[in-house]
Amino acid sequence: MNLFVEILLFLVTLIYSYLEAFVKLFIPVKRKSVSGELVLITGAGHGIGRVTALEFAKRQSRLVLWDISKHNVEETATECKRLGATVQAFVVDCSKREEIYSAAEKVKQEIGDVSILVNNAGVITAADFLSTQDHQIERMFEVNILAHMWTTKAFLPTMMENNHGHIVTVASAAGHFAISYMVTYCSSKFAAVGFHKALTDELSTLGKDGIKTTCLCPVFVNTGFVKNPTARLGKILEIEEVVEVLMEGILTNKKMVFVPPHQSVALLIERLFPERALAFLKKLTNVKFDAVIGQRSTQ
Ligand SMILES: NC(=O)c1ccc[n+]([C@@H]2O[C@H](COP(=O)([O-])OP(=O)(O)OC[C@H]3O[C@@H](n4cnc5c(N)ncnc54)[C@H](O)[C@@H]3O)[C@@H](O)[C@H]2O)c1
Repeated sequence: MNLFVEILLFLVTLIYSYLEAFVKLFIPVKRKSVSGELVLITGAGHGIGRVTALEFAKRQSRLVLWDISKHNVEETATECKRLGATVQAFVVDCSKREEIYSAAEKVKQEIGDVSILVNNAGVITAADFLSTQDHQIERMFEVNILAHMWTTKAFLPTMMENNHGHIVTVASAAGHFAISYMVTYCSSKFAAVGFHKALTDELSTLGKDGIKTTCLCPVFVNTGFVKNPTARLGKILEIEEVVEVLMEGILTNKKMVFVPPHQSVALLIERLFPERALAFLKKLTNVKFDAVIGQRSTQ
């Protein structure tokens, strides 16, 4: 096709998309049912994973819960059962590829095909880069991004066959914004956001429009994951409010879920503002948390 015509078509598509988004503001959004879907949640023993499991249980989903902590994952399972859900809990260390693959095989053979995968398990070591030990760097990458790849490799093939499913990536605001004393964590979360975006693109290229993806990017959440976080502008989020927005995002097939939502404006500002102004803004927000600083690690 002639380049001029293609550019014209692009402009028409752009205007149409804006108009469509504007009209949608006034139309109630349709939420899908997750009743009967087999939902697997990693890191379901505590925090965001646990509350997300409870929300799926309330909506009559069948649940498979993974966590490294036996006591915690069983406690979540008991709470979900109290809500009437069918639940199976497994102890899985998501830092280990082979453990993920063998647990996934067990799920497929004994329970069924996972149609909603929530990659939530995460770890953090807050420290300046040179104080972060090698094994801590490796673990953050193993759990925060590689595990997402192994679980997706295990469960995506059936979703592809059925052209039905949903892959949820629990990333972080740290997957979009750089934070000192979280160099490795940020790197692993930038990777998780990249994985979500590229996978979304690939599924679209392959015509698998029945497989949806959602990426959750919250700022600090009150789970104890980061120790003593404070910020001058903005508050520390409660788990329930984050999971409420996440569930809304999943049920409406939203691709990127920022909590709070104004992070998307901050992203735009980051691209537009000069460096000095950004540095000033950073000082103004005054983000703080407990971190190991100045204890150089040789390994
Ligand atoms: N809390 C925050 O401030 C915050 C902010 C943004 C994003 N997140 C992300 O949200 C996700 C959940 O964090 P949270 O705040 O609920 O933390 P949390 O510590 O309350 O829960 C994490 C769960 O993951 C489990 N887990 C850790 N390592 C594991 C492993 N190797 N295998 C299996 N399970 C493992 C833990 O046992 C725990 O139950 C993480 O991916 C985190 O990066 C958290």
